[in-house]
Amino acid sequence: MLSLGLEDKVVLVTGGSRGIGAATVNLLKDLGAKVAYTSRNGNDYQNGALAIKADVRDAAAVEEVAQKVEEKLGPVYGIVANAGITKDNFYPKLSLEDWDSLIDVNLKGVNHTIRPFISGMYERGEGSIVCISSISGERGNAGQTNYAATKAAVIGLVKSLARESSRYGVRANVVAPGFIETDMTKAIPEKVKDKITAEIPVRRFGQPEDIAWAAAFLLSPVASKYVTGEVLRVNGAHHT
Ligand SMILES: NC(=O)c1ccc[n+]([C@@H]2O[C@H](COP(=O)([O-])OP(=O)(O)OC[C@H]3O[C@@H](n4cnc5c(N)ncnc54)[C@H](O)[C@@H]3O)[C@@H](O)[C@H]2O)c1
Repeated sequence: MLSLGLEDKVVLVTGGSRGIGAATVNLLKDLGAKVAYTSRNGNDYQNGALAIKADVRDAAAVEEVAQKVEEKLGPVYGIVANAGITKDNFYPKLSLEDWDSLIDVNLKGVNHTIRPFISGMYERGEGSIVCISSISGERGNAGQTNYAATKAAVIGLVKSLARESSRYGVRANVVAPGFIETDMTKAIPEKVKDKITAEIPVRRFGQPEDIAWAAAFLLSPVASKYVTGEVLRVNGAHHT
């Protein structure tokens, strides 16, 4: 029987309580990984995954997450830096606060998530880091200058990290989702959704599981061992 080779690998997913993060947690569990995820609700061992309360804006809190995960599940092989937010508005109306808060969560949060694990991965000579960027980070999106800037920055971070980390046996990749049905896109007015759908060649939004499978592929030490520094677009041909 073929497998993705994730059995018993310890993987941390940030923002794992709903949406793309929750779908990723569930899929990784089904693939046999030992999964931990950050949640803003509480610490618990829920449905076979370890939930740890943490805000990715807080570097010290994420350091503590790293300690707890390693204590309870063992050395971390994989990271899915998924936690993210939007605060959309047209550029002249975007406040400085709405810029800074996106940078704090979507960019600094990713840095806080990777940092505590990278040296251990280098020492062990294995690891796979997956960051969730966005179609907006590659092609831009009206009303999302702040969001797109953070998501493009994550691509730069990952491409550089991939060049540094290859010699240590560690890979770093990005998944760039198109429009996916989650709480994040629920806020889009129906009329706008219809307009966006008409632009997507497959004529529908994606599902959180579509992104989870892409993350699992990039985490896999079997399926993607020669893939690093890559941006995997999962967007129904919305941007190719
Ligand atoms: N839904 C889409 O269409 C879409 C498209 C492209 C990229 N993305 C990206 O995918 C990722 C997941 O988004 P989603 O659609 O599942 O959204 P979502 O709003 O359903 O989930 C976001 C998750 O991030 C967590 N989170 C937010 N701020 C946090 C913080 N400061 N600390 C810790 N956790 C925090 C939330 O608690 C939640 O679990 C995000 O990075 C998002 O930018 C989503």
